Amino acid sequence: MKKTLTRKHTDTPQNRRIIPLVHPVLGKEEKNIVAKIIDSGIIASGSYVETFETQFARYCGAAHGIAVSNGTTALHAALLACSVKPGDKVLTTPFSFIATANSILHCGAIPVFADIDPATYNLSPADAERVLRREKNIKAIMVVHLYGLPADMDAFTKLSKKHGCALIEDCAQAHGAQWRKRTVGSIGDAAAFSFYATKNATTGEGGVVLTNDNAIAARVRQIINHGRDGHATHTILGFNYRLTNIAAGIGIAQIKQLPRWTQKRRANARFLTNQLKGISTLITPVEPPNTTPAYHQYTVRVPAGVRDAFMTHLHSRGIGCGVYYATPIHQQPLYAGLGYKAGICPVAEQAAREVVSLPVHPLLTARDLRAIVAAVNEFFK
Ligand SMILES: Cc1ncc(COP(=O)(O)O)c(C=O)c1O
Repeated sequence: MKKTLTRKHTDTPQNRRIIPLVHPVLGKEEKNIVAKIIDSGIIASGSYVETFETQFARYCGAAHGIAVSNGTTALHAALLACSVKPGDKVLTTPFSFIATANSILHCGAIPVFADIDPATYNLSPADAERVLRREKNIKAIMVVHLYGLPADMDAFTKLSKKHGCALIEDCAQAHGAQWRKRTVGSIGDAAAFSFYATKNATTGEGGVVLTNDNAIAARVRQIINHGRDGHATHTILGFNYRLTNIAAGIGIAQIKQLPRWTQKRRANARFLTNQLKGISTLITPVEPPNTTPAYHQYTVRVPAGVRDAFMTHLHSRGIGCGVYYATPIHQQPLYAGLGYKAGICPVAEQAAREVVSLPVHPLLTARDLRAIVAAVNEFFK
């Protein structure tokens, strides 16, 4: 059954309508399923977790899905299952949420950063290759499909084979995005999804690891359940990274709607790009060949000198907006201890000064979209 997309606008103290940057879509179906699970009394692990895993893996075209407590634990479990050990190096992007690189630190491994592509904001295959040649023994490459735009999976699959590293996809922002018509999360050795409240599908907090590899799947299952193997013995040190039945129930309701929400995000993005592409000082998102993005964020680029004023203007017109990410990971104080500093990834550093995300979520109305365009045009006219 189709769910009508409606939302309550947030009221400001002046009682003015605000178009929020992100907006989870939760309705009757989620409420009913949660009520059913509570009535059943089975609120920790249970059959809804299994159904959620199977349905999400099928939706993405992966052989195995393992539900976990959040996207960060999904990344951590995926890395461990791909045999990343203390002291190993993992190549990744500095332009992502900090959890991407922190999951590498959680393994006792060392994040090694390559720069991003200035048009896609994703890890640059050319710079990744430069770093892979310079650094010896990189154990894994972790790509992020940032803002829902697939990274160049042909190039990274080739690089991972050539340099003998595992390829892990951080799909936290990319549910349903496709590379050459293959859904992301089904291409690398393992993939991690987040189902946090603001993601394209949510379970409140939650995550999923996907893989096509039976051995990796078995190791993830063990890692997330205190190292317990199929014979109820504990052979490795694991964690409690399990998802609850309640959260999985919400996830089942969410992924049913996901294809439609993704279509709506794409249509919203298309409208915005058509309307905004004429502004010479604003750069709209690209859709490179082979990509079908999921538009977790619709991110434009403006000159660094006007970004604050632009955002203040949008807020004054009731348009939510945000910056993802104002500080690249290698410039975070936590990473100073690893010897990283400004200047090592100049493309990411410049992007961090210029990007702004505008609302693109599926609850936007035609009126909302016109209001966003009008506010942006008004600033640049
Ligand atoms: C790119 C990326 N990686 C990892 C994560 C971590 O996910 P979670 O917040 O569910 O732990 C997030 C989201 O928060 C993310 O956006």
